Amino acid sequence: MVVIDGKAVSRSVRERVKQETAELKAKGITPGLAVIVVGDDPASAVYVRNKEKACDEVGFYSEKYALPASTTQKELNDLVDELNARPEISGILCQLPLPKHLDDKEVIARINPIKDVDAFHPVNVIGDYHFLPCTPAGIMELIHSAGVDPMGKKAVVIGRSNIVGKPMAMLLLHENATVEIAHSKTQNLADVTKSADILVAAVGKAKFVTADMVKPGAVVIDVGMNRDENGKLCGDVDFESVAPKCSFITPVPGGVGPMTISML
Ligand code: GUN
Repeated sequence: MVVIDGKAVSRSVRERVKQETAELKAKGITPGLAVIVVGDDPASAVYVRNKEKACDEVGFYSEKYALPASTTQKELNDLVDELNARPEISGILCQLPLPKHLDDKEVIARINPIKDVDAFHPVNVIGDYHFLPCTPAGIMELIHSAGVDPMGKKAVVIGRSNIVGKPMAMLLLHENATVEIAHSKTQNLADVTKSADILVAAVGKAKFVTADMVKPGAVVIDVGMNRDENGKLCGDVDFESVAPKCSFITPVPGGVGPMTISML
């Protein structure tokens, strides 16, 4: 069993991006990212700060718009229109979740698909990706780093969120895996997960995936970020019991987490 080192893979992705950015800058092109955050969700504030830092590190130009929770839909839409029109802004990201009175679908649809770095716009979701959604893209990078080719393998994704589960299934399908999406209403879940050569857990429940749910030799990817009964950070997978059964597994922390912003 090998524990996949997300921090190391993440570092190598950032090095690659830094080099590619330097090459672009030599041709007079500077990638520019605009990040919009509305309200004062503490987790969003951390993500956005880390996104800005990562931009600096690789040499991107970046702008942050921290808007008050009282921002109206029109004000948000107008900002997106303005950023769509500015040539020095090549990517626009509106951090989710938005305050309840704002419609995230409306904002996402308003971003020009060629600037939609999250790949959340319907045009991008259909699969003709200009960009890849960053968490699933990071997972594909981890799978590749382990030398695993999804072609012909059975992949099971537990979770069907728009940000992780659904696009994850599409990326695995794109690489010719046979893909099944399981979720909270799936019957006989363990039978489904036990069929997986590649199992991706994105459920949001601490230590939800136990050893009896995993096929011997499986590649197990843990997208979870939870607290256990002692308040310790843990994933959706019960690492201690599951790891000995796997060929490869990602830890929490230090697996999928460090990849997301690097892929962005
Ligand atoms: N909130 C949690 N993850 C993400 C993400 O990848 N993109 C955006 N825009 N918001 C998020």
